[in-house]
Amino acid sequence: MKPWLELAPHYEQARAREDSLDRLVEWPAERDLLGDVAGRSILDLGCGNGGKLAELVQDGATDCVGLDVSGNFLSGLELIQGDLSELDSVPALAGRTFDRILFLQSFGYAKDPVRTLKAARAKLADDGFILLTRTHPIRYAVERAEQNGTTLGEEYFSTDEFSYAHRWNDQITLTKRPYTISDLLNIFSAAGLWIETTREPQLSDDARRRFPHKQAWMNKHLGILLFKLRPLGSAS
Ligand SMILES: C[S@@+](CC[C@H](N)C(=O)[O-])C[C@H]1O[C@@H](n2cnc3c(N)ncnc32)[C@H](O)[C@@H]1O
Repeated sequence: MKPWLELAPHYEQARAREDSLDRLVEWPAERDLLGDVAGRSILDLGCGNGGKLAELVQDGATDCVGLDVSGNFLSGLELIQGDLSELDSVPALAGRTFDRILFLQSFGYAKDPVRTLKAARAKLADDGFILLTRTHPIRYAVERAEQNGTTLGEEYFSTDEFSYAHRWNDQITLTKRPYTISDLLNIFSAAGLWIETTREPQLSDDARRRFPHKQAWMNKHLGILLFKLRPLGSAS
């Protein structure tokens, strides 16, 4: 949790760049899956500075709350400094439900992923869904295979934790638990959720032409996975 107190401003700087993959690939795909948000309440877990939530409010979302451990927040929104692993003990969230709950590149920080997802599911209003994104696990396997001189499969199926110096600030080391696609799917099932839609978004043709270095990065690292999740027993 600590590294993010320092990384947060770097993240926002990187995200703001014209050629950031968040701007070119991730946010357009996330926004598309969210659809019309007018009159919808949204809880954004690991919201960063709240920039995405602010856009959703502009698009008509109401009663929105963002939560992040970093506390590096924009003004004018209900943003709470807190830990997404402890949703049940955040006083501002007690007794509230939301139409949309977001984990945008933040779910990996949950200490107990199934517990966190169950706690989020319990905060969904009727007809609500969770939008969750994660980096494609192949990306880390490719990087580690290159670093360690091993193969993709060895790294993809390795269960050892790994640390790496962060791209935005090499003084900061993040530690990750490796995960496979089946780990992710089994977590969703164990939390009582079904997958309505999965996406693996790519650059548009225009962005490919304008930013070939980003296409080269995507060709090697694949990008992120997006999941639209609903409670078992609910229809879409
Ligand atoms: C990669 S950024 C994503 C930010 C934003 N969701 C977006 O898509 O632009 C990950 C965010 O998770 C937050 N974070 C990390 N650990 C957390 C925790 N335990 N509880 C709440 N937020 C956390 C970080 O501070 C950071 O803002």
